[in-house]
Amino acid sequence: MEKAATLKGKRILLGVTGSIAAYKAVQLVRLLIKQGAEVRVVMTPAAAEFVTPLTFATLSRHEVHSDIASESAWHSHVELGLWADLFLIAPLTANTMAKMAAGLCDNLLTATYLSARCPVFLAPAMDLDMWKHPATRKNLQVLQERGHHLLPVGYGELASGLVGEGRMAEPEEILAYLEEHFRRQWQLVGKRFLVTAGPTYEPLDPVRFIGNYSSGKMGVAIAESLAARGAHVRLLLGPSDLSVSNPLIELQRVQTAEEMHHLALERFDEMDGAVLAAAVADYRPKTIAPEKIKKSGEHLVLELEKNPDIAASLGQRKQPHQILVGFALETENERANALEKLKKKNFDFIVLNSLRQPGAGFHHDTNQVTLLFPGNKALDFELKSKAQVAEDIVHAIVEVMKRKEEKLGRKVKS
Ligand code: PMT
Repeated sequence: MEKAATLKGKRILLGVTGSIAAYKAVQLVRLLIKQGAEVRVVMTPAAAEFVTPLTFATLSRHEVHSDIASESAWHSHVELGLWADLFLIAPLTANTMAKMAAGLCDNLLTATYLSARCPVFLAPAMDLDMWKHPATRKNLQVLQERGHHLLPVGYGELASGLVGEGRMAEPEEILAYLEEHFRRQWQLVGKRFLVTAGPTYEPLDPVRFIGNYSSGKMGVAIAESLAARGAHVRLLLGPSDLSVSNPLIELQRVQTAEEMHHLALERFDEMDGAVLAAAVADYRPKTIAPEKIKKSGEHLVLELEKNPDIAASLGQRKQPHQILVGFALETENERANALEKLKKKNFDFIVLNSLRQPGAGFHHDTNQVTLLFPGNKALDFELKSKAQVAEDIVHAIVEVMKRKEEKLGRKVKS
């Protein structure tokens, strides 16, 4: 009953590429149609060597094309791309993955990819050495950084006879992922969140500043994940090359801790919650020299003064229905320091990441976090992409919100 509701009427565009796993896509179309989804299929010319377009046309009840134009017609990749609620590419070969990463569009599937505005799901299928190859790793990283959802590959016997990772996920698993995606899409509709991200730059003179190595990736991933569940997000982003594309995210770029503090407080009362992933400078130069500071003696002494603590200010103003989530970036005594911040800043939970853990913290595309809650409850996660870490954090936010709303006697979305 629950399953039928999540996919009913959803417009799924299925891209099939040239892999032996294309036969599994046939079963997938059957399952999707059975759940009430509308399905259109687009194939690469190589895919048509494995399964005929007629098979997919019969099951989906719509014509299936591979080329942008045939003798008598132009097949609109733009229309297909705009029609879809979700674009799933299953199986996805190393070849099409590389084209997608590079933005090449030499067939209808890759051209449609460039026109699609909906979430993109990838179900790769390839031999184990292709899967592990640095070129494939790099392409996957590019696609994940674009916010595409990667479905895990299976382990087992491959078409080559070798045994290892690279099998396409089973149709039932793929179906479960899509259902979960649509179920989550509505969880935070109508909610408002503030997210801080990136570093702050505290000017010293017209050419220098005090800053840190934060790229903004963690906070932006959180904003994207909240918006993907329907929340309106106000993202205060310190100096960073990153941008956002989800229209539910209102991006405001800031430079200094004082600016971030002012904007964070400005509309906090309207918010249902805030996630503070920014690496805010604790101190700023007491004076900003109007001209470039000249080199003089052997030493230069700078006088710094304390910046406002955004988290502590919001913690003081927090209302019972609001959720406040902080981060702790530690280099020693990780848990003890994080627990102290949890209490002091009145967070509902704190996300601990340690610079001692390889692949965690600043700049990486990955992070390894522990969520710490009042009452000594802790959730440890393995090293994951920042997009996946954001999903775990937002999942925890939804759980805490549910508990708060139940306590306050409000209606809860499941
Ligand atoms: O941006 P990336 O390159 O992806 O890196 C991500 C990250 C490492 C920056 C992120 O995961 C992270 O840990 N952010 C918090 C870094 C930090 O400043 O931690 P802290 O332990 O110093 O601060 C504790 C909390 O108070 C944080 O939520 C921080 O945003 C907040 N704070 C701190 C000082 C201040 N003046 N105002 C604040 O709001």
